[in-house]
Amino acid sequence: MWTRWWLWPLVAVCTADFFRDEAERIMRDSPVIDGHNDLPWQLLSMFNNRLQDTRANLTTLANTHTNIPKLRAGFVGGQFWSVYTPCDTQNQDAVRRTLEQIDVVHRMCQMYPETFLYVTSSAGIRQAFQEGKVASLIGVEGGHSIDSSLGVLRALYQLGMRYLTLTHNCNTPWADNWLVDTGDSKPQSQGLSPFGQRVVKELNRLGVLIDLAHVSVATMKATLQLSRAPVIFSHSSAYSVCASRRNVPDDVLRLVKQTDSLVMVNFYNNYISCTNKANLSQVADHLDHIKEVAGARAVGFGGDFDGVPRVPEGLEDVSKYPDLIAELLRRNWTEAEVKGALANNLLRVFEAVEQVRMGWPPEPPPPTTSRQAAPPVSVPRPATPRRLPRRSPSRGTSWAAPAGRITATPPGPPASIASGGSCWPPSLPWSSVSVSCESWETRAPFRAPGVQGRPAHPGLRTPGTLLPACKDQHLLSGCLASPGGQDTWGQLRTHTHTGPQ
Ligand SMILES: *[C@@H]1O[C@H](CO)[C@@H](O)[C@H](O)[C@H]1NC(C)=O
Ligand SMILES: *[C@@H]1O[C@H](CO)[C@@H](O)[C@H](O)[C@H]1NC(C)=O
Ligand SMILES: *[C@@H]1O[C@H](CO)[C@@H](O)[C@H](O)[C@H]1NC(C)=O
Repeated sequence: MWTRWWLWPLVAVCTADFFRDEAERIMRDSPVIDGHNDLPWQLLSMFNNRLQDTRANLTTLANTHTNIPKLRAGFVGGQFWSVYTPCDTQNQDAVRRTLEQIDVVHRMCQMYPETFLYVTSSAGIRQAFQEGKVASLIGVEGGHSIDSSLGVLRALYQLGMRYLTLTHNCNTPWADNWLVDTGDSKPQSQGLSPFGQRVVKELNRLGVLIDLAHVSVATMKATLQLSRAPVIFSHSSAYSVCASRRNVPDDVLRLVKQTDSLVMVNFYNNYISCTNKANLSQVADHLDHIKEVAGARAVGFGGDFDGVPRVPEGLEDVSKYPDLIAELLRRNWTEAEVKGALANNLLRVFEAVEQVRMGWPPEPPPPTTSRQAAPPVSVPRPATPRRLPRRSPSRGTSWAAPAGRITATPPGPPASIASGGSCWPPSLPWSSVSVSCESWETRAPFRAPGVQGRPAHPGLRTPGTLLPACKDQHLLSGCLASPGGQDTWGQLRTHTHTGPQ
């Protein structure tokens, strides 16, 4: 057919890239739902959550694994945005920091309505697929975010939390983290404490996915046994392929199979190859292994983009998902298996979790505060304690309570915001940090006088200088560092206290 000669080069190209084309064809129908992306953390670190900063425009945002064009190119149709606050906020300002990260996800969805659809259910994800938008869900990464309170847990549910990772890289008073298995943390709960079991039951009752990434093997097993609904690992890979304790061992993979649960593979080089270097093909090895041990229904993707410093060659950002799908097709995965890994497995687990919620017999919710139910809490100290200077006892405030919790509020006229703090991230040389406050309304930065460019300083010792300025103008505070001309925002750790002046 000489009239069709012009088709030949096209045919040649298509044949050369047959699997890539197939991947795109499948993903047009069934885009990927990724279990874990830390873009909200980047928005905090880079811009102190000031989304209206022109550099934070998600259409043009550079130097991140995630932005809107990359999400489009990667056929990302669903994303659990990670709401994360570091372990050293445990028993301190973890709840506030968690709420601020939930806020930034909500604001992100409101600011880019053509791209994101904020959803809280499996039906919502399907709706977003139909509208060609990125279904945006909230996953709270670390049980320390609930501050050992079922009331906080339920409130986070109301704000959209649809998975809770039981721990991050620290024990909570009620569940052990994976560092117990490396010997870097002491076992405390032997998996789940009695209060931890109540947390699992409450997550089942509410219809929140339980995420076992970051937990110890004992916690994985205790939860898989107790949960009435299947669970997920939102970003974990296979221990047999790379012997990192952050990965899932084969005996747990078999429990995953029995419970119809899901492992969403993490792409972080060090969990893929156990070295700093990795490639796409090695990620596919993890997917193959999980499929072999736990079945194709147990496989998903939880890239951990924007939460890790190194990602594999070939999976440099969220636009590369079709290349990974092409590799699975090259490895003879069937279309149904691939669609399962992309979206259907997560939808199946989410629907099962929603069913368990529906089937829960009506009963009054457990008491709001359950600290009493937890064993006495001994608060683990942060690895590098950044103890705040204590105000003189005569001031009656303890904005640096050593146990991290203000236990008594003596009677007296309430003080207004009395705060002090240290700057996070602490690794920045203090001389490169200037402290700023921000307007609640406009979030415009407001430089507090007298605290800029201080010499190396372990903590901010000038609450009297900084805070009246912030307080009077109803301002938030943060720390802006500009090493190498690149602005990085840190949180000024503040402690609010009401008590006599
Ligand atoms: C982001 O930048 C694009 C392209 O320059 C522009 O069209 C869009 O309005 C900006 N979005 C926001 C929210 O500022
Ligand atoms: C990926 O890395 C492994 C281990 O270094 C290597 O054997 C393999 O050839 C690499 N694959 C590709 C496609 O680069
Ligand atoms: C895929 O299947 C084909 C045909 O059955 C076979 O020749 C090939 O070796 C298989 N490839 C892999 C990676 O299993």
